[in-house]
Amino acid sequence: MVDFNKIVDRRNTMCAKWDTVSEDILPMWVADMDFQSPREVIEALKERVDHGVYGYLDSTDSYYEAVKEWTYKRHNYKIEKSWIVSTSTVVTTINMAIRAFTKEGDKVLIETPVYHPFFHGIKNNKRTLVESSLIFNGEKYIMDFKDLEEKFKGGVKLMILCSPHNPIGRVWTREELITLRDLCLKYKVLVVSDEIHSDLTFKENPHTIFASLGNGIEDISITCTAPSKTFNIAGIQASNVIIPNKELRDKFIAELDAIGFHTVNIFAVTALTAAYNSSEYWLDELLVYIKDNYLYVKEYLEKHIPKVKVMPYEGTYLLWIDFRELNLSQEDLVKLLEEKAKVFLNDGTMFGKDGKGFMRMNIGCPREILSEGLKRLEKGLASL
Ligand SMILES: Cc1ncc(COP(=O)(O)O)c(C=O)c1O
Repeated sequence: MVDFNKIVDRRNTMCAKWDTVSEDILPMWVADMDFQSPREVIEALKERVDHGVYGYLDSTDSYYEAVKEWTYKRHNYKIEKSWIVSTSTVVTTINMAIRAFTKEGDKVLIETPVYHPFFHGIKNNKRTLVESSLIFNGEKYIMDFKDLEEKFKGGVKLMILCSPHNPIGRVWTREELITLRDLCLKYKVLVVSDEIHSDLTFKENPHTIFASLGNGIEDISITCTAPSKTFNIAGIQASNVIIPNKELRDKFIAELDAIGFHTVNIFAVTALTAAYNSSEYWLDELLVYIKDNYLYVKEYLEKHIPKVKVMPYEGTYLLWIDFRELNLSQEDLVKLLEEKAKVFLNDGTMFGKDGKGFMRMNIGCPREILSEGLKRLEKGLASL
């Protein structure tokens, strides 16, 4: 059994999550976990370090095999080696895809609230941002297909799909994705599907790879995957983009060539291969722990802070928390959590205007840390 209760001190390790907030604040924000990676990954990295020569790399067949196998065994999607392009990070991939498949001024659509670098990628590359707000139907967030269709009609070139969706924790159903697929095919909208959280889903809400839905959708889909969230190796920077259509793939590779990107680093290859080939058991145990963490938060809030509610959760290790009943301005809410509760969560408005009244909580941590965070929250809110 993996000991996910183990506390690892991350302070003073140049850690974005812990070292950028002051010592008296408990960080529950940026999307990495406080768990050690699988021992197979640690051992493979140690062995590579011990070799002592870190020269140029030629990614071997075994790397591509590992990606292929994983995509099939976890997501039932058969891909070919030639479709895989390895990149460093998913954010890099999304930016490169925007550059490869659109021109300045072209319309790029995202569904908000959503992972904030999507906004930056569109704006930084001088494309036109088109937003479609997700709708909360009283039970869960859903896509606004009517609005999507209107906007597609208006000439959207590319959509960045977040699947599963950060920060609202939805795992889109096959039916929802099929409806989206049909709209994208009808209006010839290319889809960059960011599926970085796809492994962090549960049997009750299985993930469907968008490109796997048939009817020709593969020809207009660019799928981003990575072991970084799944196995907590974001700092190593390993990710892949799956592009079945050769013309699109060549365009994407040309964009990488334009900046001279041609190889990932050896530690990325080592960690990915060990993770995908030997650490599936670790992920299965992690998912049980994370689901229990979610239930723990839900029950704690219901019992002790009923005005604060966790939104329906289906996947990722990020909870979307509704503070609207407190009737605070966003500024006061953020201040209260930081200064009185002494916990640091992501401000909901960083994911777009629809995030007002919400905060995102990272539950990828040992129960003791989670429990401490909730106690702090309760105490901080008691001052209202
Ligand atoms: C949806 C989504 N995409 C991409 C990333 C970042 O991935 P990378 O570190 O590979 O750029 C995150 C991290 O939180 C994310 O939530």
